[in-house]
Amino acid sequence: MSVPEHRISGSEQIVGVSDAMKRVLHLVEKIGPTESTVLITGESGTGKEKVARFIHLQSKRAREPFVAVNAGAIPETLIESELFGHARGAFTDARERKKGLFEIADQGTIFLDEIAEMPQTMQVRLLRVLQDHQVRAVGAEMPIQVDVRVVAATNKDLREMIAIGRFREDLFYRLNVFRIQLPPLRDRKEDIPFLARFFLKNFTDRYDRTVGGFSDQTWGYLTNYDWPGNIRELENAIEHAVIVAEGPLLTPRDLPMEIVERGLPRLGEGQDDSIPDGLRLEEVEARYIRRAIRQKGGNLTETAKSLGISRTTLWRKMRRYGIPSVSG
Ligand SMILES: Nc1ncnc2c1ncn2[C@@H]1O[C@H](COP(=O)(O)OP(=O)(O)OP(=O)(O)O)[C@@H](O)[C@H]1O
Ligand SMILES: [Mg+2]
Repeated sequence: MSVPEHRISGSEQIVGVSDAMKRVLHLVEKIGPTESTVLITGESGTGKEKVARFIHLQSKRAREPFVAVNAGAIPETLIESELFGHARGAFTDARERKKGLFEIADQGTIFLDEIAEMPQTMQVRLLRVLQDHQVRAVGAEMPIQVDVRVVAATNKDLREMIAIGRFREDLFYRLNVFRIQLPPLRDRKEDIPFLARFFLKNFTDRYDRTVGGFSDQTWGYLTNYDWPGNIRELENAIEHAVIVAEGPLLTPRDLPMEIVERGLPRLGEGQDDSIPDGLRLEEVEARYIRRAIRQKGGNLTETAKSLGISRTTLWRKMRRYGIPSVSG
């Protein structure tokens, strides 16, 4: 990475080895140092804010403020004064002049998150700021000049929003100067082990735990699960596991319930017959047995029958794989 080390601390690191993430990192390195407006798109939890901060840190504005604004979280009536400030006496209780976030971000970067949630009237104002680099506080007579780089993000399809009349096309083109699309985690599963180790290190440090890694079975679950909440969900899962872990390795038992339940391999369901790399036959067998036990409600005679093996064989395999007779 072409960034001076001291600027990017460990927790700011962007982890990614997949081709998709390598492409993203390449784009980020190219666009970071420029002054270009950037639009980051991607599902919830894919790292939009992380990438926005990284862009800021790679620019000559790195030592200036990075101000994040969530357009969806500010009540519509307050957005204007939040973004642009207000003059003294602008409303009955405006006793002081208040700086808006654009002014606070002067010389730095403003991150406009959930840009699709921006009310139409504010979209017009924003367009003007992007064109003229001027903001006018509520109740102020004169606009002031600001030097702010804009990075915007959304998990919505802005073209669709334009089609239904919810987002201004002219604003879209102003923002969409340079687009970075973050792929969902399920489309770049190669990144999971690297992210998982990265978060394990962060959380064992933070909670002062000594967990050395993941059991083979745990890896199976982590790579099989679809991660609808993307990297944020993976991060939360590892934090959860580090907190509850008792042994030297994280086991499936330490993972949040839904990952173990929904992360079972879809064996024999004909949906996906590709075999994940590094998944050993024994591991598949162990998981298949667990699932069968669960499906038979813990009844081992029924389980053995459904698997076409004897009860003794089932027992032997369960002992070998450390599967408890009441499967959790
Ligand atoms: N490539 C990555 N490497 C390491 N950590 C990451 C990476 N991408 C995201 N994260 C971490 O995952 C979490 C979610 O990322 P972030 O908040 O940037 O996502 P987002 O797309 O803005 O999510 P949302 O749409 O929910 O706001 C953060 O804690 C972030 O630090
Ligand atoms: Mg975000």
